[in-house]
Amino acid sequence: KLTTRKIRSFKAEKTKTSLQVLTCYDFQTAQMLNETQLDMILVGDSLGNVVLGYDTTVEVSLEEMAIFGAAVKRGAPNKFVIVDMPFGSYSTFNKAIENATKIYQQTKAEALKLEGAFPHQLEIITRLTQSGIPVMGHIGLTPQSVHQQGGYYTHGKTDADKERLLKEAKDLEAAGCFSLVLECVTEEIANLITKEISIPTIGIGAGNGTDGQVLVINDLLKMGPGKYPNFCKPIANFYDLKLELVSKYIQDKKIPQGIDNADLHH
Ligand code: KIV
Ligand code: NA
Repeated sequence: KLTTRKIRSFKAEKTKTSLQVLTCYDFQTAQMLNETQLDMILVGDSLGNVVLGYDTTVEVSLEEMAIFGAAVKRGAPNKFVIVDMPFGSYSTFNKAIENATKIYQQTKAEALKLEGAFPHQLEIITRLTQSGIPVMGHIGLTPQSVHQQGGYYTHGKTDADKERLLKEAKDLEAAGCFSLVLECVTEEIANLITKEISIPTIGIGAGNGTDGQVLVINDLLKMGPGKYPNFCKPIANFYDLKLELVSKYIQDKKIPQGIDNADLHH
């Protein structure tokens, strides 16, 4: 099992080529991931989209994150598990410390992830890390701020945006984060940040130069009928496979009683 110490030293010691992270939301998938060489599991608030059917992650509650986070940890005792703090749970300092403590204890996760690097968020992250709760940072496209950011798009295209992202990354490193998610930023700024900070960067839609990659497992296995993001190349199509197999099962059960199954095939 990885530790924050090993994750931090990963960059300096080059013990691995890349840190592999996948999201997970349920007990049995966690049991499967527990048997793999995966480095870290993220119980992302993307569960709002892919498990609960919400429009955005803004709708996800602390209670929901606690339920799914605990389930994943029960299934993957040997993995380093990170749980997302959901929207609204860390909007003020006191609330953030209280909610982070609660979800950290309830899920038994190894770390929490918070979006953003505004001054009040840096203050919260500093307090959490100094209190012994490891924090993974998350900048670039931060889905909890979708309406404030004005949609889902690639960040870091202008000089001002690049400068801001680099400063945010350095601020989060200084606040004590053990690693940093870069979501939908240009490969150029992702590579620059990766070079400029000592903690591992974990990219999603951020090119190939980051220290690690994170993907939503439902996208990777194509669990849903809809589109998947263009940066994720699915390795399977579980939606179609399940649809086909379950449809066939139902069809077989619908064969009228009294007729031998075998007869229908001849
Ligand atoms: O919720 C999530 O799945 C995430 C990853 C995309 C980084 O935050
Ligand atoms: Na998230």
